[in-house]
Amino acid sequence: MKIKIAPSILASDFAKAGETVEKLEKCGADYVHCDVMDGNFVPPITFGHQMVANIRPHTKLPLDCHLMVLHPETHFEEFKKAGADYVTIHYEACKNNLIENLQKIKSLGMKCGAVINPDTPVEKIFDCVPLADMLLIMSVFPGYGGQKFIEETLPRLEKLRSFCVKNGYPDKEIEVDGGITESNIDSVLSAGANVIVAGSTVFRAADMAKTIGRLRG
Ligand code: DX5
Ligand code: ZN
Repeated sequence: MKIKIAPSILASDFAKAGETVEKLEKCGADYVHCDVMDGNFVPPITFGHQMVANIRPHTKLPLDCHLMVLHPETHFEEFKKAGADYVTIHYEACKNNLIENLQKIKSLGMKCGAVINPDTPVEKIFDCVPLADMLLIMSVFPGYGGQKFIEETLPRLEKLRSFCVKNGYPDKEIEVDGGITESNIDSVLSAGANVIVAGSTVFRAADMAKTIGRLRG
């Protein structure tokens, strides 16, 4: 499977967002990971669809919007208008409306993803596998960049990847998000993730292009 790198702009200076995404594209990133936070689902507030609309003209890269918000379904249309390519939503914010919300994202012509926090059993999103374009396993509790990778994520990635393979979705995109560094990337890739979110590691790098290349394993 193709390994894709999705740097998170949470770790960057929002005042320079346009040039940041231009630089990410030049440095070989595959997606731009946009961490949307509402101050309710997670304590911090970051940005909303307006930021996505502002960076849209600066890159051709798919904009991978991670909605850490309550009532995500109230935002889908605005993200569509803003130019979002992927919208990923939390099981913990949707519970029994997750499938319905994923269908709504798809009906708007965007790719959809289901996200689970580190303390949510992987089985909770097994029923999304056929519909979702991407499944995101959080390797930190959402809300902040620069946190330590939670090691228990590895068996969770293996369990999800083997479920996808056994059920006829061997190429399903599985994204991992939080605490990814050059020292844990190999174990993350061998556990079955193929889309790698990295904020601090990329934006702290002396040579961004080299670091993005190294994160491809
Ligand atoms: C945390 C976000 C992550 C975070 C990753 O709530 O969802 O995308 O920005 O940042 P690092 O790579 O610094 O852990
Ligand atoms: Zn994220």
